[in-house]
Amino acid sequence: MALTNDPNYRKLEQWYKANAGSLNMRELFESDRERFTKFSTTLETDDGEILLDFSKNLINQEVLSMLLAMAKSRGVEEAREKMFSGEKINFTEGRAVLHVALRNRSNTPTVVDGKDVMPEVNRVLEKMKAFCQRVRSGEWKGFSGKSITDVVNIGIGGSDLGPLMVTEALKPYSAGGPNVWFVSNIDGTHMAKTLAQLNAETTLFIIASKTFTTQETITNAESARDWFLQTANDVSVFLTWAGLVVACAVIGGVTCDVMFAHPQWVGGRYSLWSAIGLSIALHIGFENFEQLLAGAHWMDNHFRSAPLEHNVPVLLAVLGVWYINFFQAETHAMLPYDQYMHRFAAYFQQGDMESNGKYITKDGTRVNYHTGPIVWGEPGTNGQHAFYQLIHQGTRMIPADFLIPAQSQHPIRDNLHHKILVANFLAQTEALMKGKTPAEARKELEAGGLKGDAVEKLLPHKVFEGNKPSNSIVFKKLTPFMLGALVAMYEHKIFVQGVMWDINSYDQWGVELGKQLAKKIEPELKDDSEVTSHDSSTNGLISFLKKNFA
Ligand code: F6P
Repeated sequence: MALTNDPNYRKLEQWYKANAGSLNMRELFESDRERFTKFSTTLETDDGEILLDFSKNLINQEVLSMLLAMAKSRGVEEAREKMFSGEKINFTEGRAVLHVALRNRSNTPTVVDGKDVMPEVNRVLEKMKAFCQRVRSGEWKGFSGKSITDVVNIGIGGSDLGPLMVTEALKPYSAGGPNVWFVSNIDGTHMAKTLAQLNAETTLFIIASKTFTTQETITNAESARDWFLQTANDVSVFLTWAGLVVACAVIGGVTCDVMFAHPQWVGGRYSLWSAIGLSIALHIGFENFEQLLAGAHWMDNHFRSAPLEHNVPVLLAVLGVWYINFFQAETHAMLPYDQYMHRFAAYFQQGDMESNGKYITKDGTRVNYHTGPIVWGEPGTNGQHAFYQLIHQGTRMIPADFLIPAQSQHPIRDNLHHKILVANFLAQTEALMKGKTPAEARKELEAGGLKGDAVEKLLPHKVFEGNKPSNSIVFKKLTPFMLGALVAMYEHKIFVQGVMWDINSYDQWGVELGKQLAKKIEPELKDDSEVTSHDSSTNGLISFLKKNFA
């Protein structure tokens, strides 16, 4: 059933039309001293607490209850069980969705097509573990007998963004591991600039691909092979050097000798937990990789068992639906106050937008409501000096998640930097919620010595409407476990929203058309001949480019 036909949606819609305009967070906080207690929840994980404070949202108890009732009537609980029990909920590709099995540390049987997948999951993990130990210990040698110092992950999309985000986030845990590099873009600059910094004798390439059909990855892998053979000058050496293939055995006619299977029931953007995460395990060590899995598993259990009103992924999801479908918010900002998390928003751009950027529902009809938001963000405090102006005083509503660890990895100058970071984190959500009234702004201007007309002229620019929603997510420390838990938290949020919108969060047909057209255009670029097979814009662009190729 379409979301807008759900009786609980209708109820919320009526409420929204009659009352939303009078929802004022400042007043809500002033009239209820317990608001924080009522609209926050703390998770006691095995590696420290996570606090979700969602009190700075445009909700009251009645709205929250209606949103949760809508999550129920949309079938979130049933869908959740279907996912965990291996049903083929990816209905356009006829596949189960079981990234949760990859981190199923309790090892409970998880059955797909009548077969428990856990033995295979564990087999691949064991293989990864052994490989990591060999590389990290120096036992695994390059062609000239030297140990591996650098690992290059060649992949794109989910086969790049997850490992890249995690290895950046967990740099403090990488002691003793090789450096990691990521080449994703087909733009030769990415490969050339990376290779220029590497020594073939001590470099290991990981070819990370779920399908092994991705043009960028195959081409980049071939280029890496060519570069490698310039130095090694021996194909057989390339074989033992082990270009590492996750899904298929051949790169441009050369077989690679170490392979890690990637299951069909894990989507690319949910694959960092699988062998696609090998660069992570090499960089931070297998034990830390297991901690990452354990954190995600902890969150899986929370998501599967907690009642909806205490279920963090569900709360985040329904709040998002509230803003997207009722307030017509177009974007969602992810603002980590942790420099190590600088690729977090980029990672979830794929995670969220490739999952929920869809307009066709399960029964094949077009939605008459918005689905996935535009996800974006940068770490604080950099964002404050760039785009926060628009969040504070722009014309659009931008719901935002603010994330911060209580403990810094670098408490330099007696933790001064971190205290300033925390103060800014707190100040931003307070400012967004409270704003600044005309009376407050006037008082400030007058206290600064301004009088009469000068005050009147400046006053409107100094007012902040406030009432801007945000979630604060505070966690103890950015450990591998904690990062795993946070990533899984957002994965499940995305899942819940997909269920509520009645779309398939696990296919990605929308990326196909561009790929098809690029395949058609590429041969047209080979010579100088005029191209007329497209619209006049595309023809004109081709003609201009050809003229300037030389
Ligand atoms: O084109 C989109 C996509 O299929 C993503 O979903 C995926 O993460 C990426 O390409 C890479 O795919 P693969 O791992 O199969 O190379």
